[in-house]
This record gives sequence, C-alpha cells and structure tokens, in this order.
Amino acid sequence: MDDVTFIILGATGNLTKKKLIPAIYHLIESKKIKKFAIIGVARNKTQTKTILNKSKKHIKNIKQKVWKELENNFHYLPLDFYQQEKFCSLDPFVKNIEKKNKLSGNRLFYLATLPQHFPVIAKTLKKCALTKKTKNNWVRAVFEKPFGHDLKSAKKINKTIKKIFKEKQIYRIDHYLGKELIQNIAITKFTNTFLEPLLNNRYVDHVQVILSENVGIEERGPFYDKYGVIRDVLQNHMMQMLSLSTMEKPKKFSGNYIRDEKVKILKTVKTTKELVVGQYIGYKKEKGIPKNSKTETFAATKLFVNNKRWKKVPFYLIAGKKMKNKITSVYFQFKKAQCLNINNHCDFKANYLTIQIQPEEGYYLQMNAKVPGEEKVTAVKMDFCHACTFGPNTPAAYETLLEDVIEGDQSSFVRTDEIEQQWKITDKITEQKKKLYKYKIKTYPKQANKLIEKDNRKWHLVVK
Ligand code: BG6
Repeated sequence: MDDVTFIILGATGNLTKKKLIPAIYHLIESKKIKKFAIIGVARNKTQTKTILNKSKKHIKNIKQKVWKELENNFHYLPLDFYQQEKFCSLDPFVKNIEKKNKLSGNRLFYLATLPQHFPVIAKTLKKCALTKKTKNNWVRAVFEKPFGHDLKSAKKINKTIKKIFKEKQIYRIDHYLGKELIQNIAITKFTNTFLEPLLNNRYVDHVQVILSENVGIEERGPFYDKYGVIRDVLQNHMMQMLSLSTMEKPKKFSGNYIRDEKVKILKTVKTTKELVVGQYIGYKKEKGIPKNSKTETFAATKLFVNNKRWKKVPFYLIAGKKMKNKITSVYFQFKKAQCLNINNHCDFKANYLTIQIQPEEGYYLQMNAKVPGEEKVTAVKMDFCHACTFGPNTPAAYETLLEDVIEGDQSSFVRTDEIEQQWKITDKITEQKKKLYKYKIKTYPKQANKLIEKDNRKWHLVVK
C-alpha cells in the first residue's frame, strides 16, 4: 500500500481512542502500512502520551515493538479549526513531518467530529493549503457518521464539501460496510444459484432488519439525545443492511456499480405510519441527558421496497438500546410450503434464512425434515458459522475501511445520492409524532409486538 499521513481532526474523542488508533495499530502489525505518520488535532491542550495511553486498553495482545512504532510516529497539535490563522500552522507542521519521514504527501484527513463542524473544517483545510494535491500524491477526506441530522443539513454539508473535494476524494463512513458479514451479503446472494431466485415476493413472506443492543448510550449522552435511535442507526446501518440484501446484481462488484444498485433500492422505499418508539427507564438519569428528554432509544417500523421483486413484501425494522441481547441480523422468512396431508399434519414451520452479522456471525437456514420413525415433520437448522470456518480474527471494520481509503476503493463508502436518499427515508419516519413508550432494561415496548403480530408474524429476536 502507499505511504500515508493520517491527519485526525477530533483526535481526543472516543472514536480515535476506541477505533482509529487500534485500527492503525493493526495495519502496522499486519505490515499493510510501512511508511506513515499520524497527526492528531483537537482543541484540548493534552499530550501525545495521554491520548495513546487511553487507546492502549482497546488493543488486545499488544506487541511492544508495533506499539513503539506507532508511538514514534504519532504527533499531537492542539488547534481550533474555528481560529483559522492559528490553525494554518498545521500546514508547515505536516510538511515538516512528511519531509522527516520521507513520505510522499498522501494525506488522509479523518474528520472524527460532529457533523456541524464538517463544513468549517473542510473550508479551513483548504484555506490553509492543506488539501493541495499534486500529480504524485493523493488527498482524501473521511467523514465520520452521522453525516448531518436530516436531509436538509446533509445537503448543506454536501454542498460545501463538494466545493473543496471531488466526490472521488470523499469517503463517508458507515462502519457497518467494513464488517465481514455485511460485505458478504451481496456476494453470497449472487454466488449461490439456489438463493437469488428465491429472494423475491413470490417466495418471501417478510423480512426483518434487526439491530438490537444490550448496551446503553455509553458516554455519549449529549450527542445521543440530539439524535435518537432512528438517526443513529436506522438512517445508516439498517438502510445499508436493507439495500445490500435486496439490491439487484451489480454489473461489477466494485466502485460505483454496487452503490448504483443500492441507490435504486433506496429510491423505491415506502415508509408507513406504523411506527412504535420507546425510551428505556433510566435514560433520563444518564449523564448529559435533560430530565424532560423525549428522545427515542427504541424504534420499530414497517416499510416496503416498492419494486417488481419486492412489491407487497413487508420489511419490519427493529432497533434499540438496552434490549436483552446484542443481535444484528437480516431475517428472510419464506412462505410456508403447501400441506402434505401426512396424517393431516400441516403445522410445519416456514423456512427462514438469517444473515447474522453479530454475534455468532454466519448464516442460519431453517428447513423441515421428517422425524425418524414417525410420520411427522419437524424444523431443523443448517448453520454456517463464520468463525468456525475462517477463524476468529477477521479484521475489524475500521481497519478494513482505512485500508480501502488508502487504496482509493470507495465501494464501501456512502455516495452523495445514497446518503441523501437515506436521510429522505429517515425524515419521513422522524417527522411522525408518536407516543413515546417507556420500557424496562432488557425488554422493549410491547406495542412493538402488536405492530408485527397484527400481521400474524413475530419478531425473530434470537441469537441464532
Ligand atoms: C454506532 C452507533 O454507529 O453503531 C452506536 O452510533 C451503536 O450507538 C453502534 O452502538 C453499533 O455498532 P456495532 O459495531 O457495535 O454493532
């Protein structure tokens, strides 16, 4: 891979500590990057060592030699991007390090800040000449999620950043796209001839997209309260899970082809008024949450992908914090086979296919089989356990995505039209005024059961 200068804006935040530094560590460990420098920038007057020490505990089985290499190439500069003149001291600082480390000036700007700062950071970087490109180097900018707060703000950010960067320099992150099982969805669908012909309204009864979490809002109170679960995960991760599982076969499995197909799906999504929102009991006592907060930490809704393949198939989405289990999956339930009239035994189960993103990554297929010695049918499961076949240590999402940025591969990043389409759908959901139901920790509002049970279906909130 090319040599690279990482410039992290928002270097004292949680993302840098928990995800970015560990991801860079692993890229060094696997020798995917050999020549590099990391320059952290944030407002706080802190020390390089303090930032790195906080990150260290998020790396398992740390190798001293690799950590030393990272440490030796990490630099921190306290700067405020709202004070342009001072901020421009970053330019000579970066040049100096690039010269010392004999780097070619390939710059990866990582905007690990809240989205309202994206336009000003991008403008400041340009004014300070940091984004200047020559024939021999590349400049790429990674924008962390959430990308805006609604369609209007996302459009505003796009308008500004596109004056500064070309689309091929812009990498909007959705870390789900770096997860192995998410990357697998489309490949599996189109490399198994028995599967793709069945995934349509002739055979599929309904689909569930599930993102249930047992954790709460962690240390992100003020941020979370402005967003809520719909903007935090439905707008991005769940829309990606939905579009990847339902899209048509792209002409090629690269670059814009996959994104074209996903956008086609997003354009056909029809939301409904069926929406249940909830807030877990104790949320208002979390740090940074106003006592009268009306932010939802749970949502369940029904929508349709209104194209030829999926017309009339309901898609049920469920997501929440402090639910019982961590489960991220796409569940396809097939229509029941016709009655066989064996002893009038007709109550056999419907087949289903679960693409389990986490935990216990894999695919689970439920089929029917005859019970030995009896004229009876019972449900049996076929499992593909990802870790059992490929081993437990597949690269973490951020590592895969940073590698893609360095290689200039945009297929796992969200394009302008895609992000705007995702917000368009999300706005239609968030603008509905619904009663906010309370729910106890490790549960979810029972009204969400009604939403699906009135259609004679049930949530598939099981780990396998
Ligand atoms: C993030 C959300 O994007 O995804 C968090 O902001 C959520 O609220 C997280 O917990 C879930 O990601 P993962 O990788 O743990 O499933």
